[in-house]
Amino acid sequence: MRLGVVVLAAGLGKRMRSRLPKVLHPLGGQPLLSHVLEKARQLGAARIVTVYGHGGQQVRDALAGAGCVWVEQAEQLGTGHAVIQAMPQLADVDRVLVLYGDVPLISVATLARLISVSADTGLGVLTADVPAPAGYGRVLRDAHGRVTGIVEEKDATPDQRAITEVNTGILIAERTRLVGWLARLGNDNVQGEYYLTDVTGLAAAEGVAVATTHPARLTEVAGVNDRVQLAALERDYQRHAAEELMRAGVTLADPGRFDLRGTLHAEQDVSIDVNVVIEGEVRLSGGVRIGPNCLLKDCRIGPATQVLANSVIEGAQIGADARVGPFARVRPETRLADQTHVGNFVEIKKTSLGVGSKANHLTYLGDAEIGAGVNVGAGTITCNYDGVNKSVTRIEDRAFIGSNSALVAPVTVGAGATIGAGSVITRDTPAEELTLTRAPQVTIPGWQRPKKRPSS
Ligand code: UD1
Ligand code: CA
Repeated sequence: MRLGVVVLAAGLGKRMRSRLPKVLHPLGGQPLLSHVLEKARQLGAARIVTVYGHGGQQVRDALAGAGCVWVEQAEQLGTGHAVIQAMPQLADVDRVLVLYGDVPLISVATLARLISVSADTGLGVLTADVPAPAGYGRVLRDAHGRVTGIVEEKDATPDQRAITEVNTGILIAERTRLVGWLARLGNDNVQGEYYLTDVTGLAAAEGVAVATTHPARLTEVAGVNDRVQLAALERDYQRHAAEELMRAGVTLADPGRFDLRGTLHAEQDVSIDVNVVIEGEVRLSGGVRIGPNCLLKDCRIGPATQVLANSVIEGAQIGADARVGPFARVRPETRLADQTHVGNFVEIKKTSLGVGSKANHLTYLGDAEIGAGVNVGAGTITCNYDGVNKSVTRIEDRAFIGSNSALVAPVTVGAGATIGAGSVITRDTPAEELTLTRAPQVTIPGWQRPKKRPSS
């Protein structure tokens, strides 16, 4: 079976009160529409067509690499009209699944079930029983429980409005039959729109059994119309993500204060304290501990390493048994080997730190290649930028950099060398020797502090 997917995303999203199109608002760090396209891909769709609205170029640009076909619906004449726009792009599929760009939490399992329950018939509709069905289309059934149609709330009689089985909007149809039904849609209804839902009545009238199934959870079919609903779905998404991690062996100090805005691969016994944000792709090996208030983006952290409170790590690889923070900033292209320590108020960028090396306090290391067993004293600065070019600082194994030293790159500190505190190192320093640049200390005997002059 070749599956085609139509994603409806032409709505204006006025209630978001935003210059950003609704489907580009992020949920879990990804645009709403990306979530839906990802589900379509996971179902193995042969073709995905996204219907976007007038002025939707911003949506196309934002999701240019999404691998879907884009079709513009210049005027929003209804959900049926939107699907009609997509059909020419789906001539080679067997069945067409309709999803919504603003319904991001639909699960692949639910969609797979919808596909399977309708395998032997022309139409399947995802319906739900909701206690307060206001606003939804209602599912009409005959005395035998067979679906006979869907009526929009605005067109419904009071009796029909009492029905609690609603149309979620998601449906799947055999393509050739769908083409026929779409051709017969009219817009003679209260809203003057071409309703996709009317295909249900047309199918039933032809004797096609309309298969139905429900989502496992109601949030799966919840749409985003305003920022309040977006925030509610965000929390639902985060709770779900947190529960999955906990079941896989991760301790979360408080699942309500954890935010996954990317992908987290975490091995057993990782422990994450409160207010940690994960972005991009993050890998945490077994026993890693992340302290409170940390941001981790696109990084890998080795076994048993500890990241202490208030650290920001981005684009870095960190080995085993290392310690980072509190208050450390680890920037892209940094590699910290096993047993390294990067302490408080240390900023480190495009730098490699060898096994067991330490920079414990108040330091900037940029564009540096640092060997093993090196101790970088407090206040050390690599002067990597002359205002025009960046240069590299090399610090060989076992070197000791005294506090408050400035290493003016390009420069190399030899293996086992010691740099005296407060030095400004501009030339390479020999291995195993003490090098320092320091004005001699003097004492002026009998010197007096100035005294305040009497005011005239
Ligand atoms: C629709 C269903 C209703 C269902 C409800 C579930 C129809 C006629 N009604 O109603 O039975 O209970 O969804 O939420 O289908 N869209 C377009 N182009 C258009 C119109 C809509 O792309 O011309 C898109 C919107 O961007 C939105 C989706 O289709 O993502 C649903 O449109 P909306 O107007 O919200 O439909 P409802 O009236 O809520
Ligand atoms: Ca709606």
